[in-house]
Amino acid sequence: MAKWLDDAVFYEIYPQSFKDTNSDGIGDFGGIREKLDYIKELGCNAIWMNPCFESPFGDAGYDVSDYYQTAARYGTNDELKKLMDGVHDRGMHILLDLVPGHTSTAHKWFRESMKAEKNEYTDRYVWTDNIWEAPEGPGSLRGISDRDGSCLVSFFSHQPALNYGYYRPEKPWQQAMDAPGPRATMAELKNIMRFWLNAGCDGFRVDMAHSLVKGDEDGKGTIELWREIRAFLDKEFPEAAMVSEWGEPDKALAGGFHMDFLLHFGPSHYNDLFRCEEPYFSGWGKGDVSEFVRKYQENYEKTDGRGMICIPSGNHDMARLARTIHGNELKVAFAFLLSMPGAPFIYYGDEIGMRYVEGLTSVEGGYDRTGSRSPMQWDSSINAGFSLAGEETLYVPLDPDPGRPTVEGQMADPDSLYQEVKELIAFRQGHPALKNRGDIEFIYAEKNAYPFVYLRSAGDERVLVVLNPSGEPASFACEYLLSDKLRTFGGEATVKDGEATVPGGFYGFYRV
Ligand code: NOJ
Ligand code: CA
Repeated sequence: MAKWLDDAVFYEIYPQSFKDTNSDGIGDFGGIREKLDYIKELGCNAIWMNPCFESPFGDAGYDVSDYYQTAARYGTNDELKKLMDGVHDRGMHILLDLVPGHTSTAHKWFRESMKAEKNEYTDRYVWTDNIWEAPEGPGSLRGISDRDGSCLVSFFSHQPALNYGYYRPEKPWQQAMDAPGPRATMAELKNIMRFWLNAGCDGFRVDMAHSLVKGDEDGKGTIELWREIRAFLDKEFPEAAMVSEWGEPDKALAGGFHMDFLLHFGPSHYNDLFRCEEPYFSGWGKGDVSEFVRKYQENYEKTDGRGMICIPSGNHDMARLARTIHGNELKVAFAFLLSMPGAPFIYYGDEIGMRYVEGLTSVEGGYDRTGSRSPMQWDSSINAGFSLAGEETLYVPLDPDPGRPTVEGQMADPDSLYQEVKELIAFRQGHPALKNRGDIEFIYAEKNAYPFVYLRSAGDERVLVVLNPSGEPASFACEYLLSDKLRTFGGEATVKDGEATVPGGFYGFYRV
């Protein structure tokens, strides 16, 4: 595994909304390049950038029409290379977003695949052999081709599923993973990866990584597929880093991914933390962290040493962290996010508590996700410093709240969330026990109870983390005196007769 992953702290950039340098209202490569020092100063040393390839943008670029060509609105392939150089010049790394499960219907492969005559792309997608039979799955494209058949889609109905085969083909049109069509898709996937790794990217975030092989309920075929990719990378690009959108680390890491995300879907109970009716990290103090911990522990044991479980602050698909929690709640939430094992991922703007913008009309297939994709708020100048374009041409409208947080405002305020996040990152990086590879042992994570306590360790360093997001003081049986305080927020702990009590809205780190 690439050594740099040991202390990688990622920043996710949604390129449309980060910084616009040519005043067309859409962020671009030049804008990201301009802001690399900002990301570095925050303490993030790695970037995941959402798809930036040619696309009709029916799903914000997750509908690729040419994998080898950047979308003109962001800049040329050369400008992307320049951006990647800028990242490397600062000792940072960058992952591109790879969408292997589907293309746009506008992709030339799909156009060819729709033709009645057999050609090179006939088997590039998953087709049934007659229009009246629909494949099992999220939906199909039917009646739009001369070819007689229905084409499986993978997400939206303009995203036809690429053909990696069926785990156990049952119908005549279902192809085996080792049939020529699926093999050709695999070869092309490797070529795409080769192309961008040669161009200078450091690896990929992989979209819907769990979904490639069809009829594969337990993921066995898909795991096998990714193992083949792992072997290819080990041989040709041993430093390449891979993080999956899978949400089941035991499977993803078995497939050779270095990292898997816990997400707002899947069995992880991630939503219990920040995104449910009674989030654990809220001052209401009515949440439950125990199910999350039970599942985490299970995954942690299964994947031990093989790779990392990554807990993002959010992403472009879910509501902003600051939709449900606010003020000091966010600080305690970040104390958690930045003290867990695995590489942390911060979604752009979460470090200043950017809000979910309510009530927006969908942009580029965003629907309710659009409110989490509004322009980055840099300062108090026109369009919050995002763009000089007319307000009505901005990619997504800005948060209209006059009190919206900005980078400029928070940099000037020593008590801001930005400062807290920046300090917490530096603190993490200064303690091997808290870094990505340090161990974790849960000390107190009871059903419907506060605080939440765990022990991180690496070598001979041991750091006890005590989090009490609730508004009330909380106690736990504690075998330590908590006398070696490393960092606290919201007051101090007291220890008496083997019981520690901490105030509400508190976090503390202690060497033990
Ligand atoms: C997951 C991506 O994160 C999301 O934005 C996209 O719409 C779907 N996959 C389909 O590619
Ligand atoms: Ca632009």
